[in-house]
Amino acid sequence: MRIVMIADLHACRPWMSAARVERIVAQANALDGDMIVLLGDYVGHIPLSPALRPAEVAGLLASLKAPMGVWAVQGNHDWYDDPAAAADGRPTIWHAALEDQGIAVLENRNVQLDHNGVTFALAGLGSQRGLAKLSTAKRAGVDDITAALAGTEGMPTILLAHEPDVFPDLPDHVALTLSGHTHGGQIKLFGRTPVVPSRYGSRYAYGHMVEGARHLVVSGGLGCTTVPLRIGVPPEITVVEVS
Ligand SMILES: [Fe+2]
Repeated sequence: MRIVMIADLHACRPWMSAARVERIVAQANALDGDMIVLLGDYVGHIPLSPALRPAEVAGLLASLKAPMGVWAVQGNHDWYDDPAAAADGRPTIWHAALEDQGIAVLENRNVQLDHNGVTFALAGLGSQRGLAKLSTAKRAGVDDITAALAGTEGMPTILLAHEPDVFPDLPDHVALTLSGHTHGGQIKLFGRTPVVPSRYGSRYAYGHMVEGARHLVVSGGLGCTTVPLRIGVPPEITVVEVS
């Protein structure tokens, strides 16, 4: 099964324009995935660079096509873009825009899918830092791993989690976790990534990691935050093959 990952678009003009998102969508479709997963952080976050609005980005992502569907989770910045959502107990503007376009958002829930006769669960976790701007608590999130994995016990499970930090705490049946968020460090100098937004530092900054029987793939993502600059970590659409 081939999974195409799109992470951290951070859509804003001019760095991640509608035209560029459109090209990314075309490239992702051409990779011939069985499914396409969107790992969050759709909203732009670079000073003086107007962010694209949710309806525009979701409208462009609606052209993604894969036989087993297109599935999304949200990132911390998507929650920061709609700070009243959590207090109001409603989906964020990003969540609503994606679902308006027929893209299912797995916010602390899972679905059962079938590939060549093998049934597995695809689960999505809420952002582990979604409320960080509203709280002094360091790890203020909207993540509920119990809800995300409800009913998946004993079933091979793939988890979509914007931030990879949940990985070491997962049960063994979560065979594969797919994440973004780190941008691979975004700036890599002399083989080191000085700034990685993870409590594990560089441990889960980028790539394919295996701990025990569990696998983690962290995409380097496509966009940028804070500065429109990547060094040593080119933007990527990540393809994972599972057998
Ligand atoms: Fe993020």
